[in-house]
Amino acid sequence: MSERVTAVAPANIALVKYWGMRSEEPLRPWNRSISMTLSRSVSTTTVALLGSGREDEVFLAGETGELRSAPGAFVERVVAQLRRLRQRAGRQEALRVATRNSFPAAAGLASSASGFAALTVAAAELLGLGSSPDLLSTLARDSGSGSAARSVLGGFVEWPGEEEPESPARQLFAATHWELCDLIAIVDERPKAVSSRAGHRAAPSSPLFAARQERLPARLAAVREALRARSLADLGPPTEADAAELHTVALTASPPVVYWRAGTLEVLRAVGELRSRGVSVYWTMDAGPNVHLLCEPAQEEEVAVAIERLSAVRRLIRDRVGTGPRLSEEHLF
Ligand code: PMV
Repeated sequence: MSERVTAVAPANIALVKYWGMRSEEPLRPWNRSISMTLSRSVSTTTVALLGSGREDEVFLAGETGELRSAPGAFVERVVAQLRRLRQRAGRQEALRVATRNSFPAAAGLASSASGFAALTVAAAELLGLGSSPDLLSTLARDSGSGSAARSVLGGFVEWPGEEEPESPARQLFAATHWELCDLIAIVDERPKAVSSRAGHRAAPSSPLFAARQERLPARLAAVREALRARSLADLGPPTEADAAELHTVALTASPPVVYWRAGTLEVLRAVGELRSRGVSVYWTMDAGPNVHLLCEPAQEEEVAVAIERLSAVRRLIRDRVGTGPRLSEEHLF
């Protein structure tokens, strides 16, 4: 094995969601989205050059360093991304990949965003494509996980939609701008039954899809302004409204897509109760049953105690805004 590169890349939580694709290949989102990059929910991915005449190899890495084979559908997505990156770099060598998440995969916690961001950052470095954020963002987007385009940047990030089809995601504000917390209430760790890809495909069939699109420009402006002003009271309402609309669009699509579980509602009720007691905390959810709770560090403990007490909550991940991907010397093999 000649050379290897390891990258650690974070998940992100969308404040205004990307939901619906204009085209799948190349991936073009229906609408602009804004997210916060996390710091503790990360994927670590090592990529190494194999000798010529070999096939790509893809492994999942366990906590104790053991490598095990990855499911076929996952291997296919990874190998397809390696092909795109090799083609871009004008290289031919087969690659070995191992990856590990610090959090449950495929449960609506953006594991594909962090995973494909880490794969893209590591492979781009190894293949000599460099580390320009614009290039990494467009390469990560082409993996098929649109939200990966945002995970290559830290802080608060905006990914343009159809009106700027080629443009990469861009940082709106660095992580140091506002130390926002994201407490992730896990009510179900199992992989979700319907992929976000299937949800994106179904979305435009909802009679409410067009109504959401009409409301987005004002919502995006409100979220940008609330971030600029570091005002959770102004950020929370449009963020909750957007998550509620995404899940309403999903429920009213054909076929209907249901990501919520009973435990989801228990958490949302608890957020309502906390707010009625004057605690500033707001919820959002991606394409899964688990609930992200946004609050400031001064409220983190009170929110965590109230949410961990709920019978529906299996565990709580205490995350925060983060600075984006980094290279690491701690290789997985
Ligand atoms: O990145 P994808 O293609 O898995 O889609 C992500 C969709 C949402 O997480 C629901 C919204 C978003 O903008 O992250």
